[in-house]
Amino acid sequence: MTKMKSLLDTGSDDFRKNDALYREKVGELHALRLLQRVGGPEKARERHVSKGKILPRERVERLLDPGTPFLEIGELAGLNKYEGVPPGAGIITGIGVIEGRQCMIIANDATVKGGTYFGMTCRKHVRAQKIAWKNRLPVITLVDSGGAFLPEQASIFPDEGQFGSIFHQQIGMSGDGVPQIAVVMGPCTAGGAYIPALCDEVVIVRGQGFMYLGGPELTFAATGEKVDAETLGGGKMHSSVSGVTDHLAEDDAHALAITREIVSHLGEKPQPRKTPTSPRPPAYPVEEIYGVVSRDPRVPTDNREIVARLVDDSDFHEFKPLFGDTIMTGWGRIHGHEVGILANTGVLFVEAALKATHFINLCVQRDIPLLFLADVNGFMVGRDVEQMGIAKAGAKMITAMSSARVPKFTIITGGSYGAGYLAMLGRPFQPDAMFAWPTGRSAIMGPEQAASVLAQVRAQINEREGKKWTPEEEETFKAPIRKEYEDFQGAYNFASNLWIDSVIEPAETRDVMALMLDIASRRPKVETHFGVFRM
Ligand code: COA
Repeated sequence: MTKMKSLLDTGSDDFRKNDALYREKVGELHALRLLQRVGGPEKARERHVSKGKILPRERVERLLDPGTPFLEIGELAGLNKYEGVPPGAGIITGIGVIEGRQCMIIANDATVKGGTYFGMTCRKHVRAQKIAWKNRLPVITLVDSGGAFLPEQASIFPDEGQFGSIFHQQIGMSGDGVPQIAVVMGPCTAGGAYIPALCDEVVIVRGQGFMYLGGPELTFAATGEKVDAETLGGGKMHSSVSGVTDHLAEDDAHALAITREIVSHLGEKPQPRKTPTSPRPPAYPVEEIYGVVSRDPRVPTDNREIVARLVDDSDFHEFKPLFGDTIMTGWGRIHGHEVGILANTGVLFVEAALKATHFINLCVQRDIPLLFLADVNGFMVGRDVEQMGIAKAGAKMITAMSSARVPKFTIITGGSYGAGYLAMLGRPFQPDAMFAWPTGRSAIMGPEQAASVLAQVRAQINEREGKKWTPEEEETFKAPIRKEYEDFQGAYNFASNLWIDSVIEPAETRDVMALMLDIASRRPKVETHFGVFRM
């Protein structure tokens, strides 16, 4: 290994200005997280607690081993999407440790519109299942949900990736031996009832948890039968008569204790296939990344300085340092876990694409996970590179990245645009997890370029039609396009739409990656079959 040498001047004006802006952005992230952690409106939370129920976030905390981390997935999903709904879309999902075992926790927040499912709630639940399935994490679902949010049926009911996919994935996961446990902690109607019904083991809380396909009112309306909730779907009935549930708990705390016990009997814990070395902090403080990331999108960030602050002891074995220098490739460790890192240092040229292809190939051969740090404007354009075959070089990189079956992760650290976003393991290529830093931005192209391209098209049409265009008119045309692209490209828009799994800040990146690399190291190896590499 070679220790990276930082050339950063932490006393410079530039560093100070970058640092100040970044700290503001980190403050914004923490404020949004806080908003999400509160849950539904005060009135709803008070009603929830007055029924003797524990608030959802506290339920999750009590379920986990004390003092262990909980990595939330999609915590800002649905941000600003639904009126009166805080970020998170009424569901908490994340990876945490129960009885020493990493599990996926999915918990409805009944204080947000009765824990009902919006389109984003469905997508978030499905995403959490996908991560669990791939990593074979047991799924613990704390169910307290009125099922579908009825005014939203188009984004909940008919399509793949919506509510029905939750069941489809439950069955698929079960077939693959992924344990699933449900805890019925409130009235669970319709879809809310099928989720526990499709689990391996179900705990229900007496007098509080109910499961039915139709509640008492619906039953009366449909059949004329008058029946109370307890007889129709109460915990005692389901645990002693129907057999739909397996364990009857006296209250939330008891239910969570039973659940922990169930997890302790899930059999042997999966062992890592790799032996991590002892974790060591980077030789340079991670917080210095705040001052490294350029505050001006026109000034590139020196991503070498970022890598030096992410890998253990700043040890990095760089691959092909003298070739294709607009992408840096090499191996380092994060909290002892070996990882192959690809970090952009400019536009992708033919050499850079070939180098990335070669590097991915090596990581696959050696069974080493990949981490893409995306900060790229795209592939180079122009006669020279076209004649050098940039299309086939780019295709090689994309083929290698897409085919690789080693665990692979993306962090958008800066601007990630166009085909560059895709080639650096964009969401369509199904990274195991994808994060953005608060400075992360992504779009087909930057706001100024998009405004210019569309203005050029308009200018050509004007010319054809013999119309004149004043500079003021051009600016009036461009301004809203610029604004639209500005709004689109932000990390929070990506998080709101669940195009990324979370916004994380640089200082927590090592911990997040260590957890992801640890769980990925415990799943079986999958063979890679590369697609055709066009020569
Ligand atoms: N669709 C849309 N909104 C719903 C809803 C649904 N299925 N169920 C509840 N809500 C909303 C309520 O309108 C209320 O909104 P508000 O906060 O803007 O006032 C909020 O969720 C809380 O509902 P409330 O009935 O006050 O809460 P509760 O804790 O007393 O009861 C439920 C929660 C879920 C048990 C109850 O609302 C219920 O039975 N809902 C219908 C469930 C159902 O039949 N679903 C069928 C889905 S296919």
